[in-house]
Amino acid sequence: MIQSDLDLFDAHPQQLAAHTTLLPGFALAELEPLLDALRPVLRAAPFRHMQTPGGLRMAVALSNCGALGWVSDASGYRYSATDPVSGKPWPALPRVLVELASRAAAQAGFDGFVADACLINHYLPGTRLSLHQDRDEQDYAHPIVSISLGLPAVFLFGGLQRSDRTRRIPLNHGDVLVWGGEDRLRFHGVLPIKPGVHPRMGERRINLTLRKAG
Ligand code: SIN
Ligand code: FE2
Repeated sequence: MIQSDLDLFDAHPQQLAAHTTLLPGFALAELEPLLDALRPVLRAAPFRHMQTPGGLRMAVALSNCGALGWVSDASGYRYSATDPVSGKPWPALPRVLVELASRAAAQAGFDGFVADACLINHYLPGTRLSLHQDRDEQDYAHPIVSISLGLPAVFLFGGLQRSDRTRRIPLNHGDVLVWGGEDRLRFHGVLPIKPGVHPRMGERRINLTLRKAG
């Protein structure tokens, strides 16, 4: 079923755990400015498939904007001010994204969140993201703010141990998910994206995670 944008504007925040809030459709009001800001970022720093430290090609294609960007290669996972392949600094974090993330974080109870890094993930139908923790940031007091665009996804939201059972959280175009506090290090991942064509975004899902990494 395709939910209309108007239905999504009516949706209420959903508290999924003590410090985890789903804000359905929260990004839709800023969608066009957000996409306008994303285009030059992705021209300057195109999506690419990074290698895991073990030498495997990641299924998700990545890019970054902000003072720091998350990278993975033979040297490991880390944040870097430059793209290790091009040697260039990442494109600046667009103001529209920083402000949207601050507002979403505040709605979820995290006041004063100012992102300095935005990881941009690109999923094609069939692409999945295996369970992991976001633990390369300096200070876990800051939440993660995730914006989903395009094809729907099923987000797996687990516990603090990899073996803990996971909940399945549908993430749709425009949804914003915020997790922090005691939920900050929960394992999470994304089930394979189902085939489809999103009316605005085409045959893809794009997820932006805004972080205070440094
Ligand atoms: C991530 O964990 O980096 C991305 C999550 C998502 O794509 O929803
Ligand atoms: Fe993550």
